[in-house]
Amino acid sequence: MSKRIALVTGGIGGLGSVICRQLAADGFTVVANYITQEEAKAQAWLTAEREAGRDMHIAMADVSNFESCTAMIAKIKTEIGAVSVLVNNAGITKDGMFKKMSLENWMDVLNVNLNSVYNVSRPLIDDMLTAGWGRIINMSSVNGQKGQFGQTNYSAAKAGMHGFTKALAQETASKGITVNTISPGYLATEMVMAIKQEVRDQIISTIPVGRLGKPEEIAKLVSYLASDDAAFITGANIAINGGLHMC
Ligand code: CAA
Repeated sequence: MSKRIALVTGGIGGLGSVICRQLAADGFTVVANYITQEEAKAQAWLTAEREAGRDMHIAMADVSNFESCTAMIAKIKTEIGAVSVLVNNAGITKDGMFKKMSLENWMDVLNVNLNSVYNVSRPLIDDMLTAGWGRIINMSSVNGQKGQFGQTNYSAAKAGMHGFTKALAQETASKGITVNTISPGYLATEMVMAIKQEVRDQIISTIPVGRLGKPEEIAKLVSYLASDDAAFITGANIAINGGLHMC
């Protein structure tokens, strides 16, 4: 069987890079999506990954823009092949209390974190349906499950991702496609390190495991959900948060 192609949005970032490496190690041809402004970083990233012997590609698109995503998916199909695993990982934070939140900070987070899920999944779902096999893995957050002070935009978008998961999982379950959500807790990535130290320390003190998560701990789960072995898991929201939120 030829290698399956996995597309990871936000693939050159903190968590995205580790997910790409795990999928490559587990036998996928991996395409890491990046945004226009990160062209130089993406090229350097690709060079390093290939030097390390990984079967990686990069693909530019602004995930908040449908036309940009449609063009990216068409280019990947022509140059590499049809995507059979999609990891909707791209995400941003623009934290702030709701009473101070601008419309721009609301829309930016909804567009990048939630509308992106439509923008990237829609142009490739037909190929998964035709192939009779596919995996869509939506990277949500503990804060989509429990809400978080200062994150009305992010919590709304992340909770919305799982609504999408449950609906699409029902539409595609009989077609060999699974759709799942992973809800990581606080990880040792740039996004979390950007929180003010005293706020971050306070958050860490509430995590029962007593530490931030490692991206590798999430990436293993992504790769398992992408495998044939996970065919019976669909519509799930898998928490991986050190006990911060139990449901
Ligand atoms: N619950 C209740 N009250 C809180 C609170 C909380 N969790 N956090 C802060 N407050 C209170 C403060 O005590 C303070 O009260 P007073 O006015 O009485 O002193 C008030 O709210 C304002 O707090 P700040 O001084 O922190 O306000 P700020 O405007 O400087 O900052 C904020 C607000 C940006 C939201 C900041 O609190 C913050 O960064 N919070 C963390 C947000 C967060 O967890 N982001 C996660 C990013 S990582 C990520 O999202 C990845 C993932 O998926 C997990």
